[in-house]
Amino acid sequence: MTPLHFASTGDIMTKGKLMKEIIRRVYGPERDRMFWHRIDIIGDIAVIRKPFDVDYSELQPLAEEILRSIPYIKSVWATASPVDGDYRLREFVHLAGEKRSETIYKEHGCRFKVDIRRVYITPRLSFEHERIAKTVNEGEVVINMYAGVGPFSIIMAKKKKRMLAQAVELLRPGGRLLYTTCSVLPEEGEEVVEWILQQRRDIEIVPLHGPYEESPILPGTMRAWPHKHETTGFFYALLEKRL
Ligand SMILES: C[S@@+](CC[C@H](N)C(=O)[O-])C[C@H]1O[C@@H](n2cnc3c(N)ncnc32)[C@H](O)[C@@H]1O
Repeated sequence: MTPLHFASTGDIMTKGKLMKEIIRRVYGPERDRMFWHRIDIIGDIAVIRKPFDVDYSELQPLAEEILRSIPYIKSVWATASPVDGDYRLREFVHLAGEKRSETIYKEHGCRFKVDIRRVYITPRLSFEHERIAKTVNEGEVVINMYAGVGPFSIIMAKKKKRMLAQAVELLRPGGRLLYTTCSVLPEEGEEVVEWILQQRRDIEIVPLHGPYEESPILPGTMRAWPHKHETTGFFYALLEKRL
């Protein structure tokens, strides 16, 4: 069967339409509604929220069709319990593909390394994470209780350079702060440091010489590149408050 492709803009096929098409292929038009809105994609893992009156064996063909149709999905699991306990976890049953529950989940340009069996994570809150981040004003201090893997905080922080400004504020003279982002984008790395240096004459870069290599944009700061260093792309810079 031909793999299908989707695009967020809908110019090829939206994710929702693609899922409907996959479900319809497996169960036919009579039963497909039972499974709509029941598939979540978290990184390269698909999770099927099992209807209570459906057996796991009935989910197997759907899991296999997802793997066939969406090549970047490597593993398919079914939920085996409601969200429960202090840590809001679920039990899962492995259905198809790699028996792996760890993945990199991306949301609003942030990357979260998660194990779906060990932390609460849901793409269904994606809109809410961004909505709340937009309500945060410059200079506000946010306490995120029950943060989990921190999607609210991290998405806020990405949107607010001011958070770094506040962290710098906490340094005593001579104190140092290591600013690091898992991103290849200058606007999340070098440009944030350049911005803070413009704001604060009392902050300076402590030049670093490794590991990995110097940033081609901002001397004294460091970069790791996926194509060179067999790691994710990231940036780090050591900042010091002058005595
Ligand atoms: C409903 S989840 C929300 C997670 C996160 N805010 C999100 O949007 O993905 C609640 C989170 O609170 C965490 N949690 C439970 N008890 C906690 C405690 N005593 N202190 C901090 N976090 C806790 C759980 O691990 C869980 O990840």
